[in-house]
Amino acid sequence: MEKAKWWKNAVVYQIYPKSFQDSNGDGIGDLQGIIQRLDYIKKLGVNVIWLCPVYCSPMDDGGYDISDYYHIDPMFGTDADMDELIQKADAKGIKILMDLVINHTSDEHEWFQDALKNPDSKYAGYYIFKETEDGNPPNNWRSYFGDAAWTRIDGSNRFYLHAFSKKQPDLNWENEELREEIYRMVNYWLDKGLGGFRIDAICNIKKRLEYGVFQPDGEDGLRYIGDWILNQPGIEVFLKELNERTFRPHNSMTVAEANVPEELLEHFIGEDGFFSMVFDFSYTDIDVPDTGEWFHPKKFTVEELRDNIFKSQKMVQGKGWGAVYLENHDQNRSVNKYIPEEDINYYSKTMLASMFMFLRGTPFIYQGQELGMENIRMDSLEKYDDIATKGHYERALKVGISPEKAFELVVKRSRDNSRTPMQWSTGENAGFSNAKTWLEVNKNYKRINARDQEHCEKSVLRFYRDLVLIRRNSKYSSVIVEGEFVPYYTEDVSIIAYLRILGEKELLVIHNYQSKKGTIKIPDGFKERVLGNRELRNNADGQYCLEPYECIALYREVS
Ligand code: GLC
Ligand code: CA
Repeated sequence: MEKAKWWKNAVVYQIYPKSFQDSNGDGIGDLQGIIQRLDYIKKLGVNVIWLCPVYCSPMDDGGYDISDYYHIDPMFGTDADMDELIQKADAKGIKILMDLVINHTSDEHEWFQDALKNPDSKYAGYYIFKETEDGNPPNNWRSYFGDAAWTRIDGSNRFYLHAFSKKQPDLNWENEELREEIYRMVNYWLDKGLGGFRIDAICNIKKRLEYGVFQPDGEDGLRYIGDWILNQPGIEVFLKELNERTFRPHNSMTVAEANVPEELLEHFIGEDGFFSMVFDFSYTDIDVPDTGEWFHPKKFTVEELRDNIFKSQKMVQGKGWGAVYLENHDQNRSVNKYIPEEDINYYSKTMLASMFMFLRGTPFIYQGQELGMENIRMDSLEKYDDIATKGHYERALKVGISPEKAFELVVKRSRDNSRTPMQWSTGENAGFSNAKTWLEVNKNYKRINARDQEHCEKSVLRFYRDLVLIRRNSKYSSVIVEGEFVPYYTEDVSIIAYLRILGEKELLVIHNYQSKKGTIKIPDGFKERVLGNRELRNNADGQYCLEPYECIALYREVS
């Protein structure tokens, strides 16, 4: 692998620091906790960690509201702890990616505080303010979290724009001084030896500001903001500059949270793109309508899921490099999303793992996914912490959904499903903390935890480890990393199968995505079993009979 693209054969482990490991008994995960668990991460076989934000923050949106970019929030530890984490991880061959949140800051950031007090200060130019004569908001955009996107500053007709919560004012990227401040900050962190960044909400930095009242798309009289701030023309100028001034000189790995339309994709992830890779939302958000409203969930079939994955793989491989994932801190748990409740078990969980880990692109495993952690059901809305969950619940009520139904929808899709404490053992609070935890621990930790899975050969954890090992360090690595993705269609639309091909090396991966048996025709020569969740059986007349939720990867070399 050429050095320039070191991240191509990486496997990334995503950590939500607040819920990973508490080291000082305050019920909140922290950096020293992560340091204590580095051996576990190393053993999983990954070589990159993505840390969700640990900067100073009032934690209105889980740290995606930063009040000081240069310091670690005391909740997570000290600046020295961060340096220690970077060094200790590095010594184990693991690079750290931090989260880069530069579409907005916290309203408690000193820039914003200054801009509020003093409309003529240079910091007022760092944000997007608008004064109106009649005291009405400049327009009727709805933020991503459900309420109005403009908030009035008390005692004035001056408003500020926020695409997310009102405690997350958007930055004004048109302002050159602001951009310089951002580049300085990014380089400050990269110079410490970071591997790079995961870049938050970056497609929103260019705004097409228009004022007035637009045709509402909901009963709240508001209109979805995305049409004016997502991937707007001119964004490429900012992204190119950002890359040239920061990431490129450091040969950083960058993964952008960016849903990029096909025609722009090459600029983002091509040979000379703005980023190393972008996340693809097309199958993780398969159950959510385009406007992001959970209260109108979309049903989907295995066939649709397969088609989305295939389409995305083919599109990305024509343009550059991609990031693949099933879970993150904004999603519910994948096993609950993709598998019918009555079918959730070792077989279906490992089948999902295989389906995802053999794809082309850099895989991101979210903490607890490697254990097959599941959604939580808390008793009442008050117990949920996530701001988006609350916003969407309120909106659901506004559109006339009953409180009971709205709550059920929240239980299913809340981002807190993936934010509950990591399940390490059967000990107190699942071994996460010996104090009352900031968010409820899932009661199923006696059944699902790392310690037990470590000792059980047939566990989701062991399966993930095998997948990572095979991908990063085996005779199959090159075909898994660099091989072309080729769909393998079967008559049975509940089987998801695909090939990876590199020269004479061919891998065929098969997933029987159903609670029934299935059959698939296996071409000659695929006799070598790479991995599966069952033993390889006889393949009569080229027809292979699959058990429910069986997965199997086979290999051949053609001459
Ligand atoms: C991204 C983050 C999400 C956060 C939002 C606003 O989507 O992943 O957690 O709420 O940006 O920063
Ligand atoms: Ca702590």
